[in-house]
Amino acid sequence: MDAPVIRLDAVTRRFGDFTAVSAAEATLSPGEIHAIVGENGAGKSTLLKLAAGVLAPSAGRVLVGDDALSPATPAEAIRRGVGMVHQHFMLVAAFTALENLMLGAEPVRSWGRLDLASAREKAQAIADRTGLQVPLDAVTETLSVGERQRLEILRVLYRGARAILLDEPTAVLSPLEADELYTTLRALADDGATIAVVTHRLDEVARFADRVTVMRRGKVVLARPYARAGAGEIRGGDLTRAIMGGEPPLPFARPAMAKDAAIVLEIKGLSLTDAGGQRRLRAVDLTVRQGEIVGIAGIEGNGQSELVRALAGLEPGATGRVAVGDRDLSRLSVRARRASLGVVLEDRHEEGLCQEATVGDNLVLGDLGDRRDGAPAFDEAAAITRRMQRFDIHPADPARLAGELSGGNQQKIVIARALDRLPRGPRSAAVLAQPTRGVDVGAAAAIHAAIGEAAASGIAVVIISADLAELRKLAHRIVVMRRGEIVQSLSPEATETEIGRAMLGQEAA
Ligand SMILES: Nc1ncnc2c1ncn2[C@@H]1O[C@H](COP(=O)(O)OP(=O)(O)OP(=O)(O)O)[C@@H](O)[C@H]1O
Ligand SMILES: [Mg+2]
Repeated sequence: MDAPVIRLDAVTRRFGDFTAVSAAEATLSPGEIHAIVGENGAGKSTLLKLAAGVLAPSAGRVLVGDDALSPATPAEAIRRGVGMVHQHFMLVAAFTALENLMLGAEPVRSWGRLDLASAREKAQAIADRTGLQVPLDAVTETLSVGERQRLEILRVLYRGARAILLDEPTAVLSPLEADELYTTLRALADDGATIAVVTHRLDEVARFADRVTVMRRGKVVLARPYARAGAGEIRGGDLTRAIMGGEPPLPFARPAMAKDAAIVLEIKGLSLTDAGGQRRLRAVDLTVRQGEIVGIAGIEGNGQSELVRALAGLEPGATGRVAVGDRDLSRLSVRARRASLGVVLEDRHEEGLCQEATVGDNLVLGDLGDRRDGAPAFDEAAAITRRMQRFDIHPADPARLAGELSGGNQQKIVIARALDRLPRGPRSAAVLAQPTRGVDVGAAAAIHAAIGEAAASGIAVVIISADLAELRKLAHRIVVMRRGEIVQSLSPEATETEIGRAMLGQEAA
């Protein structure tokens, strides 16, 4: 099947009286990698969902090939060769990779039993052709984020998609995995597939996109070939300005830190063995001083997630000592730890946010009923307003359901809650996993500024990030985790190549 041209013809999508996408025009063509960029809430996911039949237009038409996509359903879209990989994974955690692949597209034998063997054969053939390798018999919840991502793409290919629309596929990947993904996408495009990718990483646009569409407040404000040279094309700086509708944010200024500052966060001999007997954390030692920002780099799956969970108190099997100031947290509950240690877990969507609750409730989740005797009463309304303002959460309506906010604004809620509740000064620490994952340029700058401000006020900060540029920009010191251990400490002046080598366990050249 040839890959279809997808054309959005004056497409509008409203939610109630809010217009998420407004009279958008866009053409996605075979053979190209088409980047779609814009601020959080600009309408990128909505645009992709319209193109993939997940949402029906309120006005206008989506054309796949020559004909309108009708009915506007994912089943019809996939029948016409259009598949979407969502911003948040849509996999059943308890199923194997192969079962997830087959879900809804099962080959059935004459007596109605699932034909696992032929499904496996077909999946393996696609994996071999595209390089999207996934352990097919592993239970999905044991897969790394990168593997789950590949599984999602494999799933749409398995259903025969020739147009593949990916919503922030690289937000959860390490730089190396992201490069691999683009190699796969390029191969698919060269083979005639239609590829669209939503991303906040503008360096990816520069390196991989043939064409770029910029959305701003629901409108397509720019659609151009990206690039390399020539009239009518767009380049880096102009792209940032088109996205923001104005000048780029001020660069981050790392707060100064006294060399002899007091130790605030002390982790000693933190170890964790999982249910299968695997050692996930091996005697991790880390001290973070007052006002210090320490970055943790590492290839995904080397213990970073377990470290964050153990610090939050979510791994009861963890041994070792965790202290903040003179308070030993090791034996304290998740709730009790929160008073001095703010944690943002890696998967905000699963663990950080209640989709069905309001923005306001999410912003004060965990603060209610948490006051000790004698402490001033918690002013819920004031905290909600302050957190919404400080973190520029859009729409600034505490009564909205959190699940209706764009991905980046959901992220801001989680960060706001973790940072804003901490007492300033040398008695608190914050541990933030992937703080700007999926967040637009402006919001990332705002989150970075809030982290800098927290450090400047004396809070000890740990950041775990797959984005090495982010770590180099923010941290006073970068430590590298490998196989559950901290193996090296580097200065932020180290190059990405040097940090990358340490992550892989290679000797410096
Ligand atoms: N189901 C819904 N109900 C109400 N409003 C919605 C719904 N889905 C999206 N919106 C709103 O539409 C706007 C566009 O959302 P969309 O998810 O398309 O943004 P986005 O560009 O993908 O942002 P991000 O980069 O943060 O993922 C947002 O203001 C969002 O709150
Ligand atoms: Mg989105």
